Amino acid sequence: MSRIAYVNGRYLPFHDAKVHVEDRGYQFADGVYEVCEVRSGRLIDERRHLERLKRSLGELQIRMPISTRALGVILQEVVARNRIGYGIVYLQITRGVARRDHAFPSREVRPSLVVTARALNRSRNEALAEQGIAVITLPDNRWGRVDIKTTGLLSNVLARQAAIERGARDAWFVDEDGTVTEASSANVWIVTPAGTLVTRHADHAILRGITRTVLFDAIKAQGLAVQERAFTVEEAYSAREAFITSASQIVLPVVRVDGRTIGNGKPGPVATALRRAYHLYAEAG
Ligand code: PDD
Repeated sequence: MSRIAYVNGRYLPFHDAKVHVEDRGYQFADGVYEVCEVRSGRLIDERRHLERLKRSLGELQIRMPISTRALGVILQEVVARNRIGYGIVYLQITRGVARRDHAFPSREVRPSLVVTARALNRSRNEALAEQGIAVITLPDNRWGRVDIKTTGLLSNVLARQAAIERGARDAWFVDEDGTVTEASSANVWIVTPAGTLVTRHADHAILRGITRTVLFDAIKAQGLAVQERAFTVEEAYSAREAFITSASQIVLPVVRVDGRTIGNGKPGPVATALRRAYHLYAEAG
């Protein structure tokens, strides 16, 4: 079955799904995106993702090209046309097509909207979560507003590639104070030796992950202690457990950081329990 993408009002076979060379997303990364998990063909936490989308657009003064309701219909339609049971749906809105000029184009320029969907291999993801992943740490050299989910991801791309070249799966960014901000495409959590969950407070230095937000409900329901604060790389090295959260991986245990073993080198009970419980607290569309 050929894949179908939505591009500015039309559902097209992938081969024909194209945007203009002067789309500002292409030239300036002048756009934002969202990734939603799909399970049993239903979008997970769509409402929260669309709320964050609107916030990102607002911060960049890009207008929403269609209503939230219409966007919801398109997301579901792309999932259905691609027959996605388990996977992700990706949406991107850019400031639109205009002659290359750094300043914003006229208000008449319509923002571009692209939606794609892709199946994920569930058993492969489960196997990965049962094994846990290795990460490296790298200086956080991103711009100061990574709370906005923009398509400007060059530092994230380079970090992920560096991780792979060093035999790891992902990279954690570390700020000038030696504290962990987030992973290349996920939020970072540790469990301290005393059993407290710690994740960085959501300021301009991290993306406020939807998975992160929902996980707080799961943590509360399980009666676990949690703190939102910065933590150092050293604290992570001596953590009992570590894991990352994102829409595509939910809760993914981390068992090595910079070559040092975390806990006993296996996914810990807290991460494993939270991964299992997550969808009790998420909203299914
Ligand atoms: N990434 N931090 C960064 C830098 C991210 O790119 C992401 C998501 C997150 C977690 O956010 P959420 O829980 O809402 O997925 C944190 C998506 C999945 C991606 O870029 O593919």
